[in-house]
Amino acid sequence: MTDKFIIKGGTPLKGEVSIGGAKNSVLKLMAAALLAKAQTQIYNVPDLTDVEIMLSVIEQLGVKTSYNKQEKYITIDAVNITDVTAKYELVSKMRASFIVLGALVARCKEAIVALPGGCAIGERRVDFHIKGLEAMGVKIKIENGYVHAKASKLTGADIYLDIPSVGATENLMLAAVMAEGSTRIQNAAQEPEIVDLANFLNTMGADIMGAGTSEILINGVKQESLHGIEYTTIPDRIEAGTFMTAVVATRGKAIIKNVHPAHLTFFNDKLIKMGANIKLIEPNSLEVNCKSRLESINYVTQPYPGFPTDLQSMAMVLLTTSNGVGIITESLYENRFMQVPELRRMGADIHQDRNHAIIKGVKKLTAAALSASDLRAGASLVVAALMAEGASTIENLHHIDRGYENFENKIRLLGGKIERKEELSSSTEVIQNESYL
Ligand code: EPU
Repeated sequence: MTDKFIIKGGTPLKGEVSIGGAKNSVLKLMAAALLAKAQTQIYNVPDLTDVEIMLSVIEQLGVKTSYNKQEKYITIDAVNITDVTAKYELVSKMRASFIVLGALVARCKEAIVALPGGCAIGERRVDFHIKGLEAMGVKIKIENGYVHAKASKLTGADIYLDIPSVGATENLMLAAVMAEGSTRIQNAAQEPEIVDLANFLNTMGADIMGAGTSEILINGVKQESLHGIEYTTIPDRIEAGTFMTAVVATRGKAIIKNVHPAHLTFFNDKLIKMGANIKLIEPNSLEVNCKSRLESINYVTQPYPGFPTDLQSMAMVLLTTSNGVGIITESLYENRFMQVPELRRMGADIHQDRNHAIIKGVKKLTAAALSASDLRAGASLVVAALMAEGASTIENLHHIDRGYENFENKIRLLGGKIERKEELSSSTEVIQNESYL
């Protein structure tokens, strides 16, 4: 039995919603906690399957962890690390766990970490991670699907990334924290999650400058300089952008609380150009509303501070019913238009040519039986179903559960008609009986 959403569209979302901690930050902070021979507490941790997987990865290293879901904090006691292996069974479930490579090499001078391989949205190589570590003096062998990394000592290096990769920047920052001398990462990723990781590490006793710019300088410190800390994760900008899209798509009006508006500048700018109203009402709260049909726009996904690829599918949903034609260019991943065939089944007019999608706005979307292919494509189908006429079903919710905490409860709080039901039959027909809603 698998779960599915049943969503009746057409109700404007109204009220307030509070955004949780950033998935893509907290997973890296958990790995960073391995650096100090101490106990660390991370607050504002969202209850997600990806967080559970990361806890399992860390526990396999012999590190003690606990997760207080009520209070939303994790304790990681990394006084002892007894194993340096991250097994394929876990890494293949969540590629972000590859981040333990940098942390283990820094702390134990050895790591055996499964290569994550590709995933639904693209090839997602890790060559920059490997080359960067080699530049720091780490000997790398790839055998039987695992990266075996070993070093007698790590030495600071000048590293230039061909693409400002988020994961490579993070892995190399972690590896460099205790390297001898200074490491300079050029063309580094500038995402808010990188800044969060640097702040976390600096609070722990590391010496990192320039995070949030394209050049990061890490001056190596001694193991004894690193101590346990208490740290609160930044809000999830992608969850915030998803809710903002859902409010705009349903012509609703809502307050999105616990956001860092500066992290959403580029995305918000595009929403405003389309015709949405966004008002800062408190330093960490935005009011969003939309009354009329949106206007189409074009956008290209870019590394931060450009248009976030993780919100590309959400904005595409808005374009499906906007006035005019919009063109999206996806520049980060080879296969991140997985929502397109599903949106077409709802009546969207989308022409796709490699990494370009041309969307001609139609008057409305209609409900359909849908399937989530990956996290963000899945979330965009939820938004589309909330906007569409009729009751849709969405299967394969495990993808969505990776990155959205209490998704349906938060949507219901805003008045959205959504239920999670266990799959009772193999039928993929649109639900006729709306008694669930
Ligand atoms: N790349 C390489 N070689 C490398 C590293 C990356 O060719 O060694 C390429 C990738 O194949 C990809 C591009 O560079 O085409 C960007 O990849 P990046 O390393 O920046 O992404 P990531 O670290 O694997 C994180 C987020 C993604 C988000 C991207 C871009 C986490 C856990 N994941 O992935 O989030 O899309 O940055 O912002 O932080 C999501 O949350 O749904 C998600 C996929």
